[in-house]
Amino acid sequence: MTVHDSSSIVRKRITGHVGFSNLPNQVLRKSVKDGFQLTAMVVGESGLGKSTLINTIFNSTICQPREVPHPAEERPKTVAIENIQADIEENGVKLRLTIVDTPGFGDFVNNSECWDPILQTIEDRYDAYLKQENSVRRMKKVDTRIHACIYFIQPTGHSLKTIDIEFMRRLHDKVNLIPVIAKADTMTEDEVADFKERIVSDLAFNGIRIFQAPIYDDDDDESVGESETIARAIPFAVIGADPTKTIRSPSSGRRIRGRAYPWGVVDVDDPSHCDFILLRRMLVHSHMEALRERTQDVLYETWRTQRMLGMGVIQDHSVFEEVDPAEKAREDRLMHEAKLAKMEAAMKDVFREKVEAQEAKLKQSEVELYARHKEMKEAMTKQWNQLMERKQQLESGAQDPRKKR
Ligand code: GTP
Repeated sequence: MTVHDSSSIVRKRITGHVGFSNLPNQVLRKSVKDGFQLTAMVVGESGLGKSTLINTIFNSTICQPREVPHPAEERPKTVAIENIQADIEENGVKLRLTIVDTPGFGDFVNNSECWDPILQTIEDRYDAYLKQENSVRRMKKVDTRIHACIYFIQPTGHSLKTIDIEFMRRLHDKVNLIPVIAKADTMTEDEVADFKERIVSDLAFNGIRIFQAPIYDDDDDESVGESETIARAIPFAVIGADPTKTIRSPSSGRRIRGRAYPWGVVDVDDPSHCDFILLRRMLVHSHMEALRERTQDVLYETWRTQRMLGMGVIQDHSVFEEVDPAEKAREDRLMHEAKLAKMEAAMKDVFREKVEAQEAKLKQSEVELYARHKEMKEAMTKQWNQLMERKQQLESGAQDPRKKR
């Protein structure tokens, strides 16, 4: 058998049936059997309709609406991370959906650094994936990485707030960001259009890269058209359906998912009312694979390279070379050692801070003691001088008999 290099590959179209044209069917059957995984994170101030939107997207109660805390109730001081898992099935295709909720985001008086727990969660999940890749006995990997982060923008109609910019600036190279304008029914059509324009220019000005539906060379016209429509609609202006009311379309009388107002109803599934349908299509229909691919090939790979380089691991083999087990073990050891060194440095820092605090306390006590000692010495010297004076007076009185009388 002759091995050809890439310059001498013979291209042939086979006329008879060989069998490999069946490969896509095999992949399809395997994918359907294994099911799909999607992990989406929702971030935004409380009450912006995160749970409602997720439930509307998946047409079931996945997130339970949170109770509004009593004003007197003590509130948590940091952003919490909550995972909600659901196995859903549509026409025999299974989807394991994980929603990562971030209650508390943007709800504090001081919101600086409220993105830290979120960033930490994303990186911890990358770390867990990296560990699976590096383990000696590799099993089927469980992908717990976050494939999309839906960021809810308050429908102010002005421009992005500092917290929106700061959050997205810190996360855009770690996760696929999908910004949405929450509760878009609170704005008019023109206000939504103006707000979108301002958001897009704010994002560009701050160098924030959001997820863009990719267009491939071999895409057909329909797919290109769909990707372009989605790209034009970002940030999606969304409305979550009110599950507590039965709403009917005024024209057809059929039941719809939406919200009712004294002046009419809004149908969330009607693209002329809001962009909900585009968001849902992008997330679970047309671009779920693109979201997963970008997470794997761009975001995770960039994070992984930085992580390895940060640990002093140098890439010295071509990607086409087989992985050397000894080298792999060395990389694992280096990673482990770097982790230990980091922990040790953190412990040393804590120890140093404690010693410094103790030293400062001792120094303070020393100064106080010295001051007290000085004060007492001065008081005693004064007393001594007074006694000596008195003694002299008594002695001089004893020598002069006239003074006695
Ligand atoms: P937390 O769980 O506290 O973080 O809130 P959340 O962001 O999950 O909001 P939630 O979905 O619980 O909705 C809060 C309130 O807003 C509920 O009364 C919803 O019915 C209402 N709501 C949700 N989506 C919309 C919307 O698109 N438009 C309007 N007008 N109200 C909405």
